[in-house]
Amino acid sequence: MGYKEIYALYREHIVAGRLKPGDRVPAIRALASELQVARKTVETAYEILIGEGYFVSQGAKGTRVNPDLVLASAAEPETATAPPTSDHSLRETKGELRLGIPALDAFPHKKWLLISAKAARTLRPDEMVLPPIMGHQPLREAIASYLNISRGLNCQPEQIFITSGYRANLRLILAVLAQPSDKVMFEDPGYFFGQKLLKRIAPNLHYVPVDRQGMDVDYLLRYHPDARFAVVTPTHHSPLAVTLSLPRKHQLLEWAQQNNSWIIEDDYDGEFHYTRKVIPALKSLDVHDRVIYTGTFSKTMMPAMRVGYLVMPKETIARFSELGEILETGMSLLPQKILAQFLSEGHFYRHIKKMRILYQQRRRMMLEALQVCFPDVFEFELTDGGMHIVAFLQRGTQDKELAEIWQRHQLRVLPLSGWYMQTQKRYGLVIGYTNIRSVEQASALLQRAEAETRALLL
Ligand SMILES: Cc1ncc(COP(=O)(O)O)c(C=O)c1O
Repeated sequence: MGYKEIYALYREHIVAGRLKPGDRVPAIRALASELQVARKTVETAYEILIGEGYFVSQGAKGTRVNPDLVLASAAEPETATAPPTSDHSLRETKGELRLGIPALDAFPHKKWLLISAKAARTLRPDEMVLPPIMGHQPLREAIASYLNISRGLNCQPEQIFITSGYRANLRLILAVLAQPSDKVMFEDPGYFFGQKLLKRIAPNLHYVPVDRQGMDVDYLLRYHPDARFAVVTPTHHSPLAVTLSLPRKHQLLEWAQQNNSWIIEDDYDGEFHYTRKVIPALKSLDVHDRVIYTGTFSKTMMPAMRVGYLVMPKETIARFSELGEILETGMSLLPQKILAQFLSEGHFYRHIKKMRILYQQRRRMMLEALQVCFPDVFEFELTDGGMHIVAFLQRGTQDKELAEIWQRHQLRVLPLSGWYMQTQKRYGLVIGYTNIRSVEQASALLQRAEAETRALLL
């Protein structure tokens, strides 16, 4: 029995009510001996259960089912019923409905403050000199353990390279592994910052169309089998939020293995999947180590933190290390110390779990508001996750004009057609909803642009 089974078993007992809040659970050593598994196996399962708030550890008094546990189906995040924000405070912000910004009102300030103070207080003289190029070791360990537990990877801390985020990841990967002539494939439509950056740093850039099953891997195999890199958003495509189908995942992995090519997996918001179980990363299927996994704390914590990471395939570690010493300076140490503590104490798992429930509710609110305000303007192809909604235009192609109108009203949505390069464009608005607090508030925001939207499109 592995840690995943032990974790799942306890979770199921708790959810089914067979174990009640406050119930004692066996000591790690006792359970390990009863199940005849290594202590570490039980310890890992317990760590996740503690991290997710199912268990609490009471030191010498042992471990119990969290006495304050409220099960997900019954849980109502405090903010969900908060009254709509006043008009005045809305105007003070820099714009609403922005994409990919975590719920700023739900940031765990208290915990963050406590951990930050401790991290600053305990800064040792040797830590004040230069940060390690590949990152603060405890953070590399915490990230590896998080990815192995939550995203299905099987990586070692030595494979983690901490960076300042997505663009730093792409730059570093290509600097270390690519020749200028190497063919790089990017999704079409695709993340505009990726597209803009690659146009500058990858002279041999090509595009692969995306449909409802994600990147069209058949197209890649037919027209560009000789590509060296494929940059892909398999869990939630950016921006269509569709998931790369399992057969295509296997096709892509097989292609990379046979051609000695690299897949760069951008798992920017894989944590936020709502209608089914969270989908494991593509990297979890990568037996031949051809996937360079990239992640970020921008969606789970805050974009301003500027901490991202990549998982180096084992055979590339030496090359990343050698070139890293020349190209990189290491990331600021203090945020890394704080994050490491935040993860290892389980706050990160708890936070994500809360956000998953909150975003699911906020997504529903936003959809309801859109359907009430614009029943004859937009249509939706609902996907299972992500942090934004794509509202497709029912008619016409004027999404750029529409986005401009909305932006004039401080609604910072983006036109879908702007994300396309060569494939036949689709038209609509890409709308962030993670900072919506109620249907009423969302409707009030949409009403700002209602008259002009109708005048343009109807
Ligand atoms: C598709 C995609 N990838 C990656 C990122 C993460 O970017 P960064 O780590 O630079 O904040 C984002 C953030 O908006 C994104 O939309």
